[in-house]
Amino acid sequence: MEIIDNENQAKEVLKDFNETVLVPTMGNLHKGHLSLVKKAKQVGKTTIVSIYVNPLQFGVNEDLDNYPRTLNDDLLKLEQAGCDFVFCPSDNILENIQKYKAPDISKKLCGKSRPKHFDGVVTIVRKLFEVLNPDYAIFGLKDYQQFLIIKKFFKKHNFQTKILGGPIIREDDGLAMSSRNNLLTPEDRKIAPKIYEQLTLIKNNIKNKTHSELIINSIEAFKENNIFPEYLTILNPETLEDANESDSSVLIAIAVKLGNVRLIDNILIN
Ligand code: PAF
Repeated sequence: MEIIDNENQAKEVLKDFNETVLVPTMGNLHKGHLSLVKKAKQVGKTTIVSIYVNPLQFGVNEDLDNYPRTLNDDLLKLEQAGCDFVFCPSDNILENIQKYKAPDISKKLCGKSRPKHFDGVVTIVRKLFEVLNPDYAIFGLKDYQQFLIIKKFFKKHNFQTKILGGPIIREDDGLAMSSRNNLLTPEDRKIAPKIYEQLTLIKNNIKNKTHSELIINSIEAFKENNIFPEYLTILNPETLEDANESDSSVLIAIAVKLGNVRLIDNILIN
């Protein structure tokens, strides 16, 4: 496994490799990320993982400073997973960076409480694509809105890189794996599985009740555990508009703050 830490080196080294697959990450790698690396190895011939905690996608009062940074551990995991290249740039990557606006669906869901977040995401991912020029890039579907925004953004900007999604990987108790889970207090970690429990309940009853009944019931159940979702909603997975009861394909999406830790999760029904 080769570690690359600057743009020129990346361009020089990677020009001789084909069927390259990029897994962009912010590090603190867990089984969810490693499942994306596994998928990358099935999709192409050369696997590149980028590790960069991107300041552009954090708001002023968000957790940029507390975001877990575990580079040595991450490199060990990637080596064991059979990754070929790791790109871990310094903040120099932001020098003279051209900033981009994310498509309008970025204003929905997480965009309501994190107004510039997705602009920061598309800006850094575009920069990574320009430097690494991958044939494929894989993003986790836990961040479903991010996945959709990236797909739409790069289609609009005529990039050839094919964007793929990797399934959500869960802890045994159902909690979606996330680097932020490590920041939960023991008490909040105990109630966190309620998130997936309620998503599953909605999924299992989607044909028996109206969407608003399902949402109201879940909000009530959350309240009993002192959980107050930022959003809990049933949507059309392409437009992120409210879904109709007759829709066969829907996204059930949630964001919850437990203490200072913001968690998101979803279930996609096709
Ligand atoms: O999903 C993430 O970890 C980040 O948003 C990404 C795609 C690596 C961009 O910084």
